[in-house]
Amino acid sequence: MTDTFLDTRRDGAVEYLTLNRPDVRNAFNEHVIAQLTDWAARTRAAAERHEVRVVVMAGAGKTFSAGADVTWMSKALAYSEAENVRDAAAAAQMFGAIDNLPVPVIGRIHGAALGGGAGLAAVCDIVVAETEAVFGFTEVKLGILPAVISPFALAKIGRSAARELFLTGARFSAARAREIGLVHAVVAAQDLDATVAAYVKEILSAGPDAVAAAKALIPAVWSRTAADALDLTSRTIAARRVSSEGQEGLRAFLEKRNPRWVP
Ligand code: COA
Repeated sequence: MTDTFLDTRRDGAVEYLTLNRPDVRNAFNEHVIAQLTDWAARTRAAAERHEVRVVVMAGAGKTFSAGADVTWMSKALAYSEAENVRDAAAAAQMFGAIDNLPVPVIGRIHGAALGGGAGLAAVCDIVVAETEAVFGFTEVKLGILPAVISPFALAKIGRSAARELFLTGARFSAARAREIGLVHAVVAAQDLDATVAAYVKEILSAGPDAVAAAKALIPAVWSRTAADALDLTSRTIAARRVSSEGQEGLRAFLEKRNPRWVP
């Protein structure tokens, strides 16, 4: 039987996921990828039942994640091209499944987020990093490239930063990661958990369906012009206004009380 490389814990509506392969700095091989994909499917189902409203993703041990497992990737020579493509597609599906979760995912980054580890940061909605954390799209240093993570990384950092960072493979600081949009808050190590908790609290105070709708809106609008998006955006806000949650939120504001969100 394969070891379990993930630790999960549920506290109320908060799902805590910890990558747990600290001996290799939470590098992921095919087993971790399969487990993460399964976890994402279970978490999606729980979110759809309104049991999970926010996810916190972290890494056990010294570092968040060193990305793809180099030992695993070096076995590629023994695989056929079709097997290599299948392996890479499984990784792409894993990143997509996390990216697509219907609830906010908060990344808690300490140590390093390199290669696919930076890719995991890219599929988080909110990323909090400790000041000393190191980031990098380091693949070219290993003679490979950040292909599978590129759609997610590009959506966060844009083409200009990608042209520098994908092509050099250079490691960069948390401050730089924040500048390019990969990270949202950079705090001292001892403040990481409190900062993550503050984001969790902020999300839990908002309307659950409104948060899910806002998350879904971003990729839906991203590639359209304002004119092309008009129908979608008008229908989306109209549906929210007449929803029981929207009505409760608007009424609570006018009545100067806290809203009561009913799942
Ligand atoms: N795949 C497989 N094993 C890895 C790994 C990876 N991506 N990253 C680290 N490890 C292993 C090391 O080989 C080492 O194994 P050992 O104890 O058998 O020698 C162990 O994890 C600890 O690594 P070490 O470098 O000693 O830890 P560190 O805490 O000093 O540094 C990192 C951590 C993440 C900064 C460093 O390991 C690193 O730069 N890793 C490469 C990351 C990378 O380029 N990833 C891109 C992959 S595409």
